[in-house]
Amino acid sequence: MIEEKLNTVIALVENECSSIKTRVEFEHFKATISGPKGKLTEIMKLMGSVPKEDKPTVGKKINEAKGEIQKHLDRVLTEIEEVELLSRLGPPIDPTLPSPDSSKGCLHPIAQVRDQVIDLFHRIGFSVAEGTELETEYYCFDALNIPSDHPARDMQDSYFMPEDLQMDNVSKKNQERYLLRTHTSSVQIRTLLDEKPPIRIVAPGRCFRRDTPDATHSANFHQIEGLYVDKDVTLVDLKSTLDYFVKKTFGSSAKTRLRPSFFPFTEPSFEMDFYSPDLGKLSHKWLEIMGCGMVDPEVLKEVGLDSDQYSGFAFGMGIERIAMILQGVDDIRYYYQNDIRFLRQFSV
Ligand code: DAH
Repeated sequence: MIEEKLNTVIALVENECSSIKTRVEFEHFKATISGPKGKLTEIMKLMGSVPKEDKPTVGKKINEAKGEIQKHLDRVLTEIEEVELLSRLGPPIDPTLPSPDSSKGCLHPIAQVRDQVIDLFHRIGFSVAEGTELETEYYCFDALNIPSDHPARDMQDSYFMPEDLQMDNVSKKNQERYLLRTHTSSVQIRTLLDEKPPIRIVAPGRCFRRDTPDATHSANFHQIEGLYVDKDVTLVDLKSTLDYFVKKTFGSSAKTRLRPSFFPFTEPSFEMDFYSPDLGKLSHKWLEIMGCGMVDPEVLKEVGLDSDQYSGFAFGMGIERIAMILQGVDDIRYYYQNDIRFLRQFSV
């Protein structure tokens, strides 16, 4: 009796299994066999009324039937899991094929040089300060002792913003105008107002000037500003710091020279030139590399520092200029065209 019933259930499972396609169908079907009211469960309940002497044989039969049924269920479940996995993976792929573009990306050549310069100054105790590309006339000019009739303040030379523009994240001193910063020197002022000496910062960033683009000019370019303010900072500190930078960047035999110049925010002011026997084609020439000088007492006064107690030096250089020398690029415009054939050459 029990054996017949068991055979019927096995046959049913065998039959039904081939039409089960999803996990829901599977669970549902399984419950009709081995669930609390399942067919197999019901048969097992009959064990109670089996005479004692028959129990071992019937028990064995039941176990065999359970094993058989489980085999079928396991097979169906494995098939269902395979289908589920494939649908998660999507269409078949061949993992041995190369990816459509397997080249690694890299930093833009200007960013590479920027990071190299930052790293050199970082090693001698300078940290990075950042300003905003949108600035106000006060931080860009007035606080730097640049007079109101200076040509840079002319509408023809700088990008001034409409009078009614308000920027919450760029503080104004008074009611002055906003403009796109013409140099990173504005970060000197923001830092001097925010921090107490000793201050040792480099400030990299993008600057803007109205300019007709040619091989060496671009309306959009990058600078790195440097500032060191403390007690007893002298011209010797300026010269030795910049010598270190030039030698590390352009070769250990590089020589530097300071030529007298003028910037409203430094006194005395210089242009620094260098030449380096390690520069191949350029090795016989003195090349101008940056403006620099001792921070003008007027600037210290403006930020509330006593110039009898404090002194400092500052410098500013164009990143493109350094990049062009180091990378042998003869037209600044290449840096902005995003031509992958150009950029790829700097992938490291
Ligand atoms: N801001 C100047 C420029 O854009 C560069 C410069 C010159 C920065 C001398 C300095 C400096 O900090 O001391 O032409």
